[in-house]
Amino acid sequence: MSIFWFITTLLLLHSCTPGVGMDHGIVNGKKSIPHSRPYMVYIYDKQTHKTCGGFLIREDFVMTAAHCKQDNLMVYLGVDDTEDLPKGIPVLAIPHPDFANMKGYDDIMLLKLNKSATLNKNVKTIGLPKKGEAIPSNCMAMGWGWQEYTHMSPSSVLKEANLTLIQNCATPHTICTEGGTGPAQGDSGGPLICGNVPHGIVSYNIVNKSTGVYITMYTKISHYYQWIHDTMRGSL
Ligand SMILES: *[C@@H]1O[C@H](CO)[C@@H](O)[C@H](O)[C@H]1NC(C)=O
Ligand SMILES: *[C@@H]1O[C@H](CO)[C@@H](O)[C@H](O)[C@H]1NC(C)=O
Ligand SMILES: *[C@@H]1O[C@H](CO)[C@@H](O)[C@H](O)[C@H]1NC(C)=O
Repeated sequence: MSIFWFITTLLLLHSCTPGVGMDHGIVNGKKSIPHSRPYMVYIYDKQTHKTCGGFLIREDFVMTAAHCKQDNLMVYLGVDDTEDLPKGIPVLAIPHPDFANMKGYDDIMLLKLNKSATLNKNVKTIGLPKKGEAIPSNCMAMGWGWQEYTHMSPSSVLKEANLTLIQNCATPHTICTEGGTGPAQGDSGGPLICGNVPHGIVSYNIVNKSTGVYITMYTKISHYYQWIHDTMRGSL
């Protein structure tokens, strides 16, 4: 969470723009139908109390953001309401080796579950993009994070929003969306699903200083295809 928190906060200090629709964070909010996103994972560190989202990509691997790394992470599968958590699973955190906290690059991490997930109707994996697959611009983000950009207001139940990719802030290793709807604090690490495939990982917010509009940056998963493949193969 640190990048998300820090960059958002920094930019807010410099651009307290009135009039932006900030009443709803993730995700200008619709509650997800409970358990309709069975790949979605709640991530919690019981020492620091930091939370993130993530998604189950194999029975033994969760994908999330590297800035979500903490020393005592646990993952919770099949969650709708975080006030009613199942038993957590400890993980081995494998952040991308080039991730450097304040830069926002390479913000991707794999969590190797100490005990493989038992799949059922509430717990399912989601497949990653194929190499070279085009990214549709109709996307969806989801999480348990803040419902307002500027106030601590996590949602106990999973929420989601439709978002459209924009081009002017994309880079070879990131994709982005803008507007008063979208991920906020606590939504880091969650997937941006475009079409039916996760193509992004929630990384951080910036505010466009000329317009006051929020922009959310997501790690572009396909850029890390080789690292993901090597890391997951190496740990079989
Ligand atoms: C996870 O598994 C590793 C090795 O398989 C073990 O050393 C470690 O103690 C486990 N961690 C927890 C928190 O159970
Ligand atoms: C997203 O769009 C779909 C298709 O238009 C719609 O059915 C769904 O309710 C929308 N979801 C949200 C959270 O607005
Ligand atoms: C910020 O807004 C201006 C004015 O609409 C636009 O030209 C610029 O591309 C935006 N910057 C980003 C990073 O989206």
